[in-house]
Amino acid sequence: MSAFDEIAALVKARSGLALGPEKSYLLDTRLAAITRRLGLTGYVALAPRLRVDRALQDEVVEALTTNETLFFRDNKPFDHLRREALPKLHAERPAGMGLRVWSAAASTGQEAYSLAMLVSEMGGAFGGRSVQILGTDIARAPLARAREGLYSQFEVQRGLPARLLVKYFTKEDDSWRIIKPIRDMASFREWNLLADPSVLGRFDIIFCRNVLIYFDPPTKTRVLAMIASRLLPGGLLYLGGAETINGLGDSFRAVPGEHFVFEANPRPTPQLVRGALVQVGA
Ligand SMILES: C[S@@+](CC[C@H](N)C(=O)[O-])C[C@H]1O[C@@H](n2cnc3c(N)ncnc32)[C@H](O)[C@@H]1O
Repeated sequence: MSAFDEIAALVKARSGLALGPEKSYLLDTRLAAITRRLGLTGYVALAPRLRVDRALQDEVVEALTTNETLFFRDNKPFDHLRREALPKLHAERPAGMGLRVWSAAASTGQEAYSLAMLVSEMGGAFGGRSVQILGTDIARAPLARAREGLYSQFEVQRGLPARLLVKYFTKEDDSWRIIKPIRDMASFREWNLLADPSVLGRFDIIFCRNVLIYFDPPTKTRVLAMIASRLLPGGLLYLGGAETINGLGDSFRAVPGEHFVFEANPRPTPQLVRGALVQVGA
C-alpha cells in the first residue's frame, strides 16, 4: 500500500473524510507544518509514525479538515428558520420547554453565533422560552476559536450585516468579540460525526452544512441516519446549498418547496411477530 493510500485510509476511518488520489496535493500542503516540525522530508515518511501514534493521527485528521465558514452562510436557511421553523416549533412545543439547536460541523462558530443572533433578534417571539445552541466539530483548534468568540475584521465582513456587528460585538484591538449574552447561548464540544450521537440528546433543529460533501455515499447515509435519530418530532435538518439526500437512504424527506430543509421520515417501530421483536420496514 502506498503512503498516500495508507494515510487516506486512516483519515477516512477516523473522520469519514474521503481523499481520492486527485487530492494527494492536499497531503503535501496541509501536512507540511507537521512533517517540518518532525524533521521529515514529506508525508511518505509520516506514514510509519502514524501507525503507532494516536495523537499524531488526530493532528493529521484535523490538518486535513476544511474549516471554511462565514456568518449567515447562504442566508436562506436562516430566513426559513426565522419565518417558518422557529415560529412553528414555538407554537407546537409545550410552554416552558426550551428549544435545542445543533450546529453539527461548527468550525470556528460563525454558524452557531448566527443562530444565536437570529434568536436574539426574534426576541419576544419566544415568550421567555430558552433556546440553546450546541456547536460541535471534530477539529479542536477551530472549536477553541469558536469558544473565544473573537473574529478578525475580515471575518466579520463576511456575511454579517453591519447593524448586527455594532449590536452584538465589541472591538478589541483589530478584532471583534461577540458579546457575552450571545456567547452564553452557545456552547461548543468536540464531536466526531461518525460516533453514536445519543449522548448529545435530541434537538429541534440540526444544521449539518457543508460537511457531508467531504464523505463518501455510505458514510453520508450512515451519518444522516444517526442525525435523524437525534431530531425531536417536528424537528428539521438543514443541509448546505450544494448537498442532497438523493440516494442516501430514507432517513429524511425534503420539506416541500425547500431543497435544503428536511424532516425525518418516521422510523420503523419494533413490533411483536410470533413472539419475536422485529423491525417493521427494516
Ligand atoms: C466547511 S466547514 C462547515 C462549517 C459550517 N457548517 C458552514 O457551513 O459554514 C466543515 C467542518 O466539518 C468538520 N468535520 C469534518 N469531518 C468531521 C467529522 N467526522 N465530525 C465532525 N466534524 C467534522 C471540519 O472540521 C470543518 O470544521
